[in-house]
Amino acid sequence: MLRFLTAGESHGKGLVTIIDNFPAGVKIDEDFINEKLKLRQSGYGRGARQKIETDKIEFLSGVRGEFTTGSPISFFIKNKDYENWRDRMDPYKSVPEESKIHTPRPGHADFAGSIKFGLDDIRNVLERSSARETASRVAVGAICQIFLKNFGIEFASAVLSIGGVGVEAAEKNKLKGQELNRAKGSEFNSDPFAFNLIDLFDEVISRNIKNSELRMPYLEIEERTKVYIDKMKAEGDTVGGLITAQIKGVPVGLGSFTQWDEKLDAHIAMSVMSIQAIKSVEIGAGVKSAYLKGSECHDSIYCSGSGGFYRKTDNAGGIEGGMSNGEIISVTCAMKPIPTLMKPYLDTVDLNTCKAKKAFLERSDVCAVPAASIVVESTLAFSICYFFLKKFGGDCFAEIKRNYDGYCKK
Ligand SMILES: Cc1cc2nc3c(=O)[nH]c(=O)nc-3n(C[C@H](O)[C@H](O)[C@H](O)COP(=O)(O)O)c2cc1C
Repeated sequence: MLRFLTAGESHGKGLVTIIDNFPAGVKIDEDFINEKLKLRQSGYGRGARQKIETDKIEFLSGVRGEFTTGSPISFFIKNKDYENWRDRMDPYKSVPEESKIHTPRPGHADFAGSIKFGLDDIRNVLERSSARETASRVAVGAICQIFLKNFGIEFASAVLSIGGVGVEAAEKNKLKGQELNRAKGSEFNSDPFAFNLIDLFDEVISRNIKNSELRMPYLEIEERTKVYIDKMKAEGDTVGGLITAQIKGVPVGLGSFTQWDEKLDAHIAMSVMSIQAIKSVEIGAGVKSAYLKGSECHDSIYCSGSGGFYRKTDNAGGIEGGMSNGEIISVTCAMKPIPTLMKPYLDTVDLNTCKAKKAFLERSDVCAVPAASIVVESTLAFSICYFFLKKFGGDCFAEIKRNYDGYCKK
């Protein structure tokens, strides 16, 4: 069973990751991984930390001569910022009383984390709960994507709106999305909230996303959104947004209907919800399906001349009964605003004295939605890889390829 573990603090020496049960014989493209790490660091609205770091993967084991060996893969991602925190993050030096934090930030792990572990310095919680950990997850996802690319499975993600700014424009643009899909021969219904109608693999849309500092598919929304982010920054506030991701080329039958924890949609929901600040996960039409009639919601099945099956709609988001159905898998999720604010808006208390305080200020992102979209894509890659290996699993690439080809020939 494919699994991974991460360790490391935000301002510690770095992040260590172990991937277990990854097959042998997969050619690793280090540039692809580093490119994804760079994308996670980018995006309009990130804090000063990203100017310090240039994340790069350093393999410690499991890869030799460019190919995976079948042994556990381990890798290190250095925190350059550690140099500025050496004193405060030292494993042996005691922490001076005056540098300890006792005022939890609402919306962060500080409150429950310090009570749960009996810690008298909230830094011990925030260092690990920080989204710095997502660098590890992006590298894991990139390794999974490299493997899945060999089977024609591709991933894409985008930011649909930030702080609600893009929403109404995205709704207008969804019409374009529908036209686009119609031009390709599909007949999508006219659900006004059908964000997932956007085809992230469309040439124009994917170029827009690549060229956008906010990873938005519609460039006309971007400028307005940047103005809004600047306003939030000036006000010392933060902002969240909506992210969508799609996966194409997934064969029918990944996941299973037979047990609750074997379901692909359940695994995806856990992967995506586990990302810091993600507060909802929808598959396909998601919440909108509650407003549709059965006759509008479900995706009729057709057979093409060549014997393949296809749908004209994809409200199921590529998953039925906990299994991939061969259509594009689409996931939309909401990210809440960053909990660390640069102005003292939020009330909190000193956990030692119970005195009322304002939440403490720490260098932080104003908006990390574009970065989070890369994390979403990466965690999805892990979920798909997990089920792909469960279905076609073997110890080495050649064996998996044989199993896959045999299944696809049926
Ligand atoms: C890419 C990314 C960057 C983030 N950057 C920050 C940040 O700079 N400051 C902050 O307070 N929270 C940041 N967060 C969110 C917190 O890590 C998150 O809200 C916190 O761990 C509590 O978890 P929860 O929101 O899932 O409850 C970021 C999240 C992501 C995905």
